[in-house]
Amino acid sequence: MPSPSRKTDERLNEMGKVKKGLGWIEWLRGWLYVILEFFFQRIMASHLQNPMPLPPVNEITCIITGCTSGIGLELARQLAESGAHVVMAVRNQKAAHELIQKWQTEWCGKGLPLNIEVMELDLLSLESVVQFSEAWNARLGPLHVLINNAGIFSIGEPQKFSKNGYEQHMQVNHLAPALLSVLLLPSLVRGSPSRIINVNSVMHYVGFVDPEDMNVVSGKRKFTSVMGYSGSKLAQIMFSSILHKRLPAEAGISVACVSPGIVDTNVTRDLPKLVQVGYHLIPYFVFSPQEGSRSALFGATDPQVPEYCELLKADEWPTCAYISLDCRPSNPSEEAHNIENSYRVWEKTLEMIGLPSDAVERLIEGEEVSCHYSSH
Ligand SMILES: NC(=O)c1ccc[n+]([C@@H]2O[C@H](COP(=O)([O-])OP(=O)(O)OC[C@H]3O[C@@H](n4cnc5c(N)ncnc54)[C@H](OP(=O)(O)O)[C@@H]3O)[C@@H](O)[C@H]2O)c1
Repeated sequence: MPSPSRKTDERLNEMGKVKKGLGWIEWLRGWLYVILEFFFQRIMASHLQNPMPLPPVNEITCIITGCTSGIGLELARQLAESGAHVVMAVRNQKAAHELIQKWQTEWCGKGLPLNIEVMELDLLSLESVVQFSEAWNARLGPLHVLINNAGIFSIGEPQKFSKNGYEQHMQVNHLAPALLSVLLLPSLVRGSPSRIINVNSVMHYVGFVDPEDMNVVSGKRKFTSVMGYSGSKLAQIMFSSILHKRLPAEAGISVACVSPGIVDTNVTRDLPKLVQVGYHLIPYFVFSPQEGSRSALFGATDPQVPEYCELLKADEWPTCAYISLDCRPSNPSEEAHNIENSYRVWEKTLEMIGLPSDAVERLIEGEEVSCHYSSH
C-alpha cells in the first residue's frame, strides 16, 4: 500500500507542484555562497579567537562521532582538555586509543587526567548505530551533547552503496546520524538541557533532495559525488528542522546545524594528489582543523544557543538553528526553508532507518521503540 506521503507526492506530481531540482538562479546563488565562503571565511571569522575559549564544561558528557581526524579530533581534544567527559564514537578504535594516550601525555601536569573513552560506531552500518545507542542508553546516564561530526565526501568516486542498500554519502552524512540522534533521545532527555549539534556544510546550498529518490537511482538525475554530498547535507538540515519542531519545549533538547568553513582535513583524501598538494598550499584561505572546530564548539557550549533555538521554535521558523563558520546565527539555503519538502524528507528518512512515524514522541515519553531497516 502506498504511504500517505507517497499519495501526497503523486497528487502534487500530477499538479506539477513537486520540485525536480534547484532552479538555475538558486543553483548559481548556491555556488556563489560556496565561493564567497572560501575567499572570505578568514575575514568573516576575524573576530574569533583561536583556540576558542570555552565556558565551563566540567559537568557535561559529550558524544562526538568521527573524531580520529580533522574537525572531530579537535572537538574531542579541546572539550576533554576543558574538563568534559568525552566519548569518541569511532570506527577505528585503535587510532582513537593512540590519540588518547598522546593527549594524556601532552596534558600531564596541566590538570586532572582527561576523561575520554572510546566506543565503536560505524555509520556505514545501521546495525552498528543501533548497537551503539543500546549500549549507551543501557547506562541510564545523562547525555548533554551529541555532536554528529563524522562525514564523507568521496570526491570524484563512483556511486557506492552501504550494506543497508543506501547511497554512502546519504547514509554516513544523514541517515545514520539521524538514527543515532533519535535513538539517543532517552539519554538526551536525562541530560536536559541538552543539544544535538550537526556538523553541516556550506555545500548544502547547492544540494537538492528528492525524497522519492534519496539514493539517486531513478535515473531522473545523473549521480555525482558533489550531488551525493550536498544532497546529504541538505537532507540533514531538513530532517533536523522537523526534529527541532517535533521535540516538545519541555524536553529541553536543542537541535542545531553548524558550518565549519572550508577546512584542511582528511576530507580531501580522495582528491587527485596534485589537487591535494594545491589545497595544502593555500593555508591563507583554508581553515586549520582548530579554526574549523569553532562553530561546533560554539554550538555545543555557548549558553545563548538553546535560547536562540527556543526563539526559532516559538516563531515557527521553518528551519532549525544554522550557525555559520563565524559562530553567528545564519540562514541555510532557500531549499532548506521548503517546509513541505522537509516534512517529506523527514517521513522518508524515518522509513529508511526503520523507525515508526511517532518514534520521537514515544522515546520522549520513555517508551521503547524498535527499528526495522533493510539489510542486504
Ligand atoms: N573539511 C572541510 O572543508 C569541511 C567543510 C564542511 C563540512 N565538513 C564536515 O565536517 C565533518 C568532519 O569532516 P573533516 O573535514 O574533519 O573530515 P575527516 O578529517 O575526513 O574526518 C572525518 C571523520 O569521520 C569519520 N568517518 C568517516 N566515515 C565514517 C563511518 N562510516 N563511521 C564512523 N566514522 C566515520 C572518519 O573516520 P576514519 O578515520 O575511520 O575514516 C573521520 O574521523 C564532516 O561531516 C564533513 O562533511 C568539512
